[in-house]
Amino acid sequence: MPQSDIAMLIETIALDMRSAPERGVLPTYIPPLADVDPDKFGIAVLEANGRMHLTGDANEPFSIQSISKVYALTMALETIGAPIWSRVRQEPSGNPFNSIMQLESERGIPRNPFINAGALVISDILLSHFGAADARRAFLAFVRSLVAKTSGVRYDESLARQEYETGFRNAALANDMRNFGNIQNLIPSVLRQYFHQCAITMTCRQLAESGRFLMMGGRVATETAQSVSARTTQTVLALMMLCGHYDGSGSFAVQVGLPGKSGVGGGILAIVPGIASIAVWSPGLNAQGNSLLGTAALTRLVHATGWSVF
Ligand code: DON
Repeated sequence: MPQSDIAMLIETIALDMRSAPERGVLPTYIPPLADVDPDKFGIAVLEANGRMHLTGDANEPFSIQSISKVYALTMALETIGAPIWSRVRQEPSGNPFNSIMQLESERGIPRNPFINAGALVISDILLSHFGAADARRAFLAFVRSLVAKTSGVRYDESLARQEYETGFRNAALANDMRNFGNIQNLIPSVLRQYFHQCAITMTCRQLAESGRFLMMGGRVATETAQSVSARTTQTVLALMMLCGHYDGSGSFAVQVGLPGKSGVGGGILAIVPGIASIAVWSPGLNAQGNSLLGTAALTRLVHATGWSVF
């Protein structure tokens, strides 16, 4: 698709989204996220040729939340590799992202690394591998290595602390898994690691840049980043398609047709393999906790470009 067409297309989509009457619901269980302006909207499209298209609030940092699970899984696969699959499965859950029921009946083995339980196991794995003193630093360094300009890519310490103080469901998930022997580090350390990962702030531009290795089969363009193996990117993309939107993953696959990962901060990272890395941000969520207008915008974009992988 010609460059000018993509630029024009995202402008039109952003304009329509600005005046959309239904904007979804802000999450209230993480206090600072309830205060975000629901009218924010941004899109960034990074093409394989390096061209970046931005519109709306694409340069404003926001809380990436569960999108961080993509980087955590990538790091775990690149450091530990296949043994992680004895502790977390590769199957869609069909349940909400923070559900505890399935975990209980499946004896502490989460369905996949993108639901909260699975991501807590991945955080535990990173803690064991890097050590309690270095795991947080290593995680942030990895995310920063994926973007051109790192300014604003940081842990929102206040948000991480507030989620630590109110994240009782995640504490329950971690304790339940520890009871089944599937968490090895101390619960407070695992929760701190996980909440920090979720509390990273990035702009749509940076998020789209960070998806470059997924778009390019593991190759990255920044000087600091190491390439990721093709096998890891295939695994991460497959799981994004199957589990990236929790119990909304099926309808996202039907509507958008791309591997994507959402966050409760209203961001979505979606990858068109070999063609584009797309980030959208609109803080209002649908019933499954995924960005309502972000999904609508991606649906429009994919419809116009023919970028569905199907
Ligand atoms: O653990 C939580 O509940 C949040 N820190 C992240 C959840 C999330 O982003 C779900 N995504 N749509």
